Amino acid sequence: LAPTAAAGPLAGRHVVVTSGPTHEPIDPVRYIANRSSGRQGHAIAGALAEAGARVTLVSGPVVIPDPAGVAVVRVETAREMLAAVEAALPADAAVFVAAVADWRTEGAAVEKIKKGAGGPPSLALFENPDILRTVGTGPRRPALVIGFAAETQDLLANAGAKLARKGADLIVANDVSAGTGVMGGTRNTVALVSREGVDAWPDLSKDEVARRLVAEIVRRLPPETP
Ligand code: CTP
Ligand code: CA
Repeated sequence: LAPTAAAGPLAGRHVVVTSGPTHEPIDPVRYIANRSSGRQGHAIAGALAEAGARVTLVSGPVVIPDPAGVAVVRVETAREMLAAVEAALPADAAVFVAAVADWRTEGAAVEKIKKGAGGPPSLALFENPDILRTVGTGPRRPALVIGFAAETQDLLANAGAKLARKGADLIVANDVSAGTGVMGGTRNTVALVSREGVDAWPDLSKDEVARRLVAEIVRRLPPETP
């Protein structure tokens, strides 16, 4: 039997999604990372596949299962994530959900660093490439570019600044300040920030955020050029 072509509003479209944290090694047993379960990014990748898209999910280290119907590329560091995203292009849309570590150490130690008389080691940190900004302002920019912004203060102002700085069409802003407790959970309260304004969504499950975001992608994606 020939494989049946995917049906759904995103049939024939390719979407790249980043998800999870990145790990930046310090030595063979230690790393720098961000808090991220990958739940929101994986839910978005799965919902895109359900809408008929061909999905490439570039995921940092997570313990949750792969979403159904999605091609998964596993990476560890921010630089590996950027390379995997660039290798996956071209795409009609890209959704950058990963909590990328902003800094790495240069040249991880080959051997485990031992405690010793010298006291704690100092780590020199170097800034990682900004994957969203590289793609959002680059020559192979997908027609629709969506980022996330996890903020602990000035949510909408910070998200608006990221929209412009990173060349995104839409920033999904979420408040991760103490008390909201969304990181690692199954629910999310987000606001969509675009040039048209701010659309605040109610508290939803991450699966429901994913479904609504896919509807937004369907609405905003320019028609296919023949
Ligand atoms: N992002 C990325 N590559 C990075 C850092 C962030 O692709 N090196 C993406 C994230 O996946 C997210 C968006 O950029 O979609 C915003 O990430 P965030 O950490 O909120 O923004 P930063 O620019 O790193 O600013 P800061 O952490 O200082 O708030
Ligand atoms: Ca950051």
